[in-house]
Amino acid sequence: MADRQPHLNSNFYGPAVPPPSKSRRGRRILCTILMVAIGLIVGAGILLLILGLVYSPHKLVFNVSSARLTQFNLTTTSSNQLHYSLALNVTIRNPNKRYRVYYDYNEMAVLYKNQRLATQWLPSFFQETKSTVVVSPNNFDGQKLMFLTSDEHVEFNAEKANGIYSIDVKFFFRLRMKSGQVVLKFKPKVYCGLKVPLGSDIDPKSISLFSNTDCDFSF
Ligand SMILES: *[C@@H]1O[C@H](CO)[C@@H](O)[C@H](O)[C@H]1NC(C)=O
Ligand SMILES: *[C@@H]1O[C@H](CO)[C@@H](O)[C@H](O)[C@H]1NC(C)=O
Repeated sequence: MADRQPHLNSNFYGPAVPPPSKSRRGRRILCTILMVAIGLIVGAGILLLILGLVYSPHKLVFNVSSARLTQFNLTTTSSNQLHYSLALNVTIRNPNKRYRVYYDYNEMAVLYKNQRLATQWLPSFFQETKSTVVVSPNNFDGQKLMFLTSDEHVEFNAEKANGIYSIDVKFFFRLRMKSGQVVLKFKPKVYCGLKVPLGSDIDPKSISLFSNTDCDFSF
């Protein structure tokens, strides 16, 4: 009897067991699928993060290493013509050890008081990994009709008295960064806020007065 009791019990409870066990198994399968899915998502996320860290390019570093301003006068008598003559040396550092840089489209603008004095397009060029190139746009010469507010006139006169002018240089690039099969395309903007002393071409002091200026680079 004592032997039969569990046997009977199991027989007795046996049929009652399957329904919950079936749903439990179903739940377990669902659980497993969910776990696998979450695992895959997390795994893919980590992989993307690692790939992102490895392949995300570093910003290019722009610096105006020298500037020469030989003319910057405003004729106020008849019309507000600004006569200017500016030359620059711009140092570009590619800090990436993976990416070479192809500068396909290189627009460069010189601005004074938010007005564009001149635009130049530098020829397309190429930069190796971990290297520095110098571009020397040196013929920003000409004249521009300026519309200055009275405040801006006051600012111009103050700058004229100091002999140092606030001139902005902006670059608008279309470039490719290439590492093997990986090609990234960017349209970065570069802004350089310069303080350029007016000096004569022959006076070498005027060049040394200009302090090396870092530019803002944004992808
Ligand atoms: C501007 O100033 C420079 C230096 O004083 C002078 O040589 C030049 O003729 C001036 N330009 C104009 C248009 O007045
Ligand atoms: C740019 O650099 C070259 C070489 O160092 C120099 O001869 C030239 O005068 C510089 N240009 C300007 C505008 O300073």
